Amino acid sequence: CGIVGYVGSKRAQDVVVEGLRRLEYRGYDSAGVALVDGSGRIATDKRAGRLANLEKAIDENPLPDATTGIGHTRWATHGAPNDVNAHPHLGATGRVALVHNGIIENFAMLRAELERDGVEGVSETDTEVAAQLLEREVLAGADLTTAMRAVVRRLEGAFTLVAVDAGDPDRVVAARRNSPLVVGLGEGENFLGSDVAAFIEHTREALELGQDQVVTITRDGVEVTGFDGSPAEGTRYHVDWDLSAAEKDGYDWFMRKEIFEQPRAVTDALLGRHSETGRLQLDEVRISEDELREVDRIVIIGCGTANYSGLVAKYAVEHWTRVPCEVELAHEFRYRDPILTRNTLVVAISQSGETADTLMAIRHAREQNAKVLAICNTNGSTIPRESDAVIYTHAGPEIAVASTKGFITQMIACYLLGLYLAQVRGTMYGDEIAAVVDELRRIPGHVEGELAKAEEVYALARDLSAAPAVLFLGRHAGFPIALEGALKLKELAYIHAEGFAAGELKHGPIALVEDGLPIFCIVPPRGRDQLHAKMLSAIQEVRARGARTIVLAEEGDTEVGSYADTVLSLPRVPTLLQPLVAVVPLQLFGCELATLLGNDVDQPRNLAKSVTVE
Ligand code: G6P
Repeated sequence: CGIVGYVGSKRAQDVVVEGLRRLEYRGYDSAGVALVDGSGRIATDKRAGRLANLEKAIDENPLPDATTGIGHTRWATHGAPNDVNAHPHLGATGRVALVHNGIIENFAMLRAELERDGVEGVSETDTEVAAQLLEREVLAGADLTTAMRAVVRRLEGAFTLVAVDAGDPDRVVAARRNSPLVVGLGEGENFLGSDVAAFIEHTREALELGQDQVVTITRDGVEVTGFDGSPAEGTRYHVDWDLSAAEKDGYDWFMRKEIFEQPRAVTDALLGRHSETGRLQLDEVRISEDELREVDRIVIIGCGTANYSGLVAKYAVEHWTRVPCEVELAHEFRYRDPILTRNTLVVAISQSGETADTLMAIRHAREQNAKVLAICNTNGSTIPRESDAVIYTHAGPEIAVASTKGFITQMIACYLLGLYLAQVRGTMYGDEIAAVVDELRRIPGHVEGELAKAEEVYALARDLSAAPAVLFLGRHAGFPIALEGALKLKELAYIHAEGFAAGELKHGPIALVEDGLPIFCIVPPRGRDQLHAKMLSAIQEVRARGARTIVLAEEGDTEVGSYADTVLSLPRVPTLLQPLVAVVPLQLFGCELATLLGNDVDQPRNLAKSVTVE
């Protein structure tokens, strides 16, 4: 969910709705605002569906002018996404309004307690219970800040809460536990947001909050305390991107813009990581070289696309470092009692740094004394803050739900980590490392070249726009890219798509092949190994059964021509780095196909960019 809070002198409705627009990628099942105008009453409106529905409703029935407000855009957990369940929720007398992100696990018990006191709910949500509890404290005489502290001490689960009180119009109070919240610091105005995009238009000065903290914003002040009232301080930081990074900039979709930003993103991800003396330096790795030499096992965790970057990493990291490396979905890892020791290095990959499944997994890993290194794109987010070390990916804000530049820079960070470990552990010579770094430095140019040929991919998308299903085949490091290509089609085009390891084809998936089924085949570069030849056999096998083959192969690979209905040529790169270039046409294809199908590419149905509940 996305959350916004504002106190200042501007029209709160505009600030809050604009903030919600920038956070809509976090959830878009419903949206709502609550404004406090000093009349002693709270004005709210909330609507199921996209933010546009709310905006239309407010246009038709304007809310009073106010300079304090909160807002919410929801990804439903408790209760269907309808008008009633949309946030904000009001207390029983309508004095307090509250928005919430997360899940309050003990809400049934709290609701029963309220019902015993004669307080009835109107919605099916856990949030309403929190609003009622908060209002009860306020009606008993507590100010909103004190009331918030009293309530959050009783809540279990993960939550960000933001509240206003009609009786105290110049104050917004928020609390967080295991769920994101940042403060935006302005002049004569202050902001709250799930992330800085909420207020980037107004200020680039932000305050990062710690775990279990309550924050009160007024026009001129920000006060942070622990849940028990003990004074605390947030960490101030300057946001290094501006509004233009959060705008579509002439593109039809954020996703397309972000695909085209990849050359820059890769350049930024590599910047400053390689010294003139030829040694790799990863400044954010606060784990000593001695400790890294002791590592006897690497476990990479993540969810969705981030998990696939881990799968790509495994091929390179094991090859370069000779340290066994496993890749696991964060939620599966967390609850299976994994074997971890102080010599296990857990690498947590997360674009947002807020994915609850990944966060819970790293906490578990650290409790078992494993070291945790985060690969993350979002400064100041929870996962890097709770890790022993972090490599930031520097992709800039990623707004489309489907990850693209986030993914490519995650892979870059993984390669850098692999090379760094090889350097520290002495499993590669300096010139070998330098040669790979040189190859990595050529990637932005390669990706640029691929983007220049986007029209070829778009034509293919037009051709295949009626396909009911699409398969993707890859081998070795190309296998995770087959998975990612398929995921993009599921997420964006809502069509059945699967990725398979080409070697597995004959053990089952080949039964799916029928006349005309489009199959993308990612062909490894020709090399000393037999991967290339084996992949060609797989292509022949599916083609013999009527598949329509779209073959991604390096330029100059003349052998593939006779097995391909369509060839998409890839720049020449080493096998281990091929995922960086193979993914680009698949991203373009997914984006274009979904556009042709009339889908909302940036906000696909049922999904949210940052899933802050387990
Ligand atoms: C959500 C998004 C995916 C993303 C995954 C992990 O499911 O829809 O696109 O890959 O979360 O997100 P993270 O921020 O942890 O990389």
